[in-house]
Amino acid sequence: MKNIKLLNIVGARPQIIKASAISRIIRTEYSDIVQERILHTGQHYDRKMSDVFFEELEIPRPDFNLGVGSARHGRQTSAMITGVEEVLINEKPDVVVIYGDTNSTLAAAVATSKLKIPLVHIEAGLRSFNKGMPEEINRILSDHVSTLLFAPTDTAFKNLIKEGFRPDNSPPYHIDNPKIFLSGDIMYDNSLFFAELAGRKLVSYLDDMGLEENNYLLCTIHRDLNADYPARLGAIMRSIMEIARSSQQKAVLPLHPRTVHALERESPDLLKEIRSTADIIILEPVSFLEMIMLEKSASMIMTDSGGVQKESHFFRKPCIVLRAETEWTELVKNGTAILADAGREEIISAWESLSRSEELAYPGFYGDGHAARFIMNEITLMAGQPA
Ligand code: UD1
Ligand code: UDP
Repeated sequence: MKNIKLLNIVGARPQIIKASAISRIIRTEYSDIVQERILHTGQHYDRKMSDVFFEELEIPRPDFNLGVGSARHGRQTSAMITGVEEVLINEKPDVVVIYGDTNSTLAAAVATSKLKIPLVHIEAGLRSFNKGMPEEINRILSDHVSTLLFAPTDTAFKNLIKEGFRPDNSPPYHIDNPKIFLSGDIMYDNSLFFAELAGRKLVSYLDDMGLEENNYLLCTIHRDLNADYPARLGAIMRSIMEIARSSQQKAVLPLHPRTVHALERESPDLLKEIRSTADIIILEPVSFLEMIMLEKSASMIMTDSGGVQKESHFFRKPCIVLRAETEWTELVKNGTAILADAGREEIISAWESLSRSEELAYPGFYGDGHAARFIMNEITLMAGQPA
């Protein structure tokens, strides 16, 4: 088999975390045949949104950082396309791997497919059926220019078939003859791998914050649909304060910079009130190991994050989803997650209902914890064929 040059493209926090699963397998099982390169678009750039993950999760430092930063969608995405294209032309990778549904994913998909380089999309097939979300547009477009598509769930795999992808295509695979796989979720691999490490490394983390096992809520909010609409963000924040007060629990909020900026700009009084409420602990973004510690011991999780919804399931916690729909529909069907959107009544009622449920079950929807190994095997089979 020939040597394979693989370019991992990341940009936003969740992609850096996801890429660590692929980097780890390359390092431990494929270092003799795969040469990994990492391109960071720079979409996320604060230390706590980027560097911290490279260090903590032992991901090799990016070989390229485009330093694109924050901007409107068109400006940001086009700068990334230009930068990615440049690197692809110079580096000539055999295969490019992209993750999820951010603007970095889309930019990498456009640049790679137009240069006729095989594109691998990890987390393919997820759909919210709401094209008002920028992520929905990013994922549909990225899927349709990919050569290998790895769906994390049965629902995602079926979504691809409904869009015309054929499960029975045979090699050689290319953009017009793509191959879809049900791979399981690399974030399940990561949660298993890093939960053990977090437990060993952060023994006193919760104690130091005065948090008791199963006696605090963990909340994350960052979607544009919540952060950029003061009435929605206000209703969410007030509901969290109300639940914390009435249940005599603390609520821990590691806040995304987007949400902090929105509160500072649009609702400074509310931000002041939250900061001075004793039950509410506002944190800067935390590291992945810290996040795992917070997730493992929370009584309940409230979130509009895609990744955190799933992690609530991995760590067997009920979840209030602060959105009207989700791509992770199996969680809602399972009854362990409730879609509450951003209304006070819906959020309080979801909290009451999940608090009353005694026997919640958390079946294995996300594979066997070895999705990254499965994916790398298929990538090397495709990319390693003699030209
Ligand atoms: C992006 C993704 C979203 C993903 C999220 C993960 C898109 C369209 N959205 O949303 O799918 O769920 O990342 O966290 O790609 N900011 C900083 N420092 C940073 C990064 C961002 O201050 O390091 C602030 C800036 O004010 C910026 C805002 O956050 O304008 C939004 O950042 P952006 O990357 O555009 O979108 P996210 O909301 O992070
Ligand atoms: N996460 C983290 N620190 C935080 C908040 C989230 O490490 O302060 C992790 C979280 O555990 C999950 C990922 O970041 O693995 C999810 O990222 P985010 O919510 O930003 O994006 P989404 O998954 O919605 O795209």
